[in-house]
Amino acid sequence: MLRVAVMVSGGGTNLQAIIDAVESGRITNTEIVAVISNNKGAYALERAKKAGIRDIVVSPKDYTERSEFNKALVEVVDSLKVDLIVLAGCLVVIPPEMIDKYENRIINIHPSLIPAFCGTGFYGLKVHEEALKRGVKVVGATVHFVDKGTDTGPILLQKAVAVQDGDTPKELQQRVMEQAEWILLPKAIDLIANGKVAVVDGKTVIRK
Ligand code: GRF
Repeated sequence: MLRVAVMVSGGGTNLQAIIDAVESGRITNTEIVAVISNNKGAYALERAKKAGIRDIVVSPKDYTERSEFNKALVEVVDSLKVDLIVLAGCLVVIPPEMIDKYENRIINIHPSLIPAFCGTGFYGLKVHEEALKRGVKVVGATVHFVDKGTDTGPILLQKAVAVQDGDTPKELQQRVMEQAEWILLPKAIDLIANGKVAVVDGKTVIRK
């Protein structure tokens, strides 16, 4: 049974997709043992509570030094004894020591087809604003393993989504969530939970 902690910061629609997929059996061999947020007001925490999943807040605002926050976060994650950490709409910078400790055991969902529209400053609605500004016809989402860069780790899954004439950033964001993010993240967890993913020379290999 894969023990998973999900890290969130906002509305938690990706978390909800994971919860629903576990409940429906689209994700197998997996237990979400906790939801961790840097933001005590995150609606994602309400979603965790409703699903009977332990919710934990570890906020940088509660620590005078970033190093103290980093230490506290790693201690909390270690105490959960998880196999996989899923960043689902998580906007907190993951401590380098945590990335070392959980190498290729942290995955993130990014709302673009990496390497497009990613890196520092590209998160949430900003990603879709830039895609529309550039005039691309295809966008999408990516699940990748987290390394010490920003959106630079080994790519695991990607799914393309068409841009429609007249799309606003919000409309495009919603379509990318519905047609890509909420499909890819559960699928990635199920693949990992069933031993079908390896990282070889910095690239992912998926066994069918
Ligand atoms: C979404 O745009 C997602 O792509 C990004 O964070 C935003 C909010 O996600 N990772 P959620 O609704 O909190 O899951």
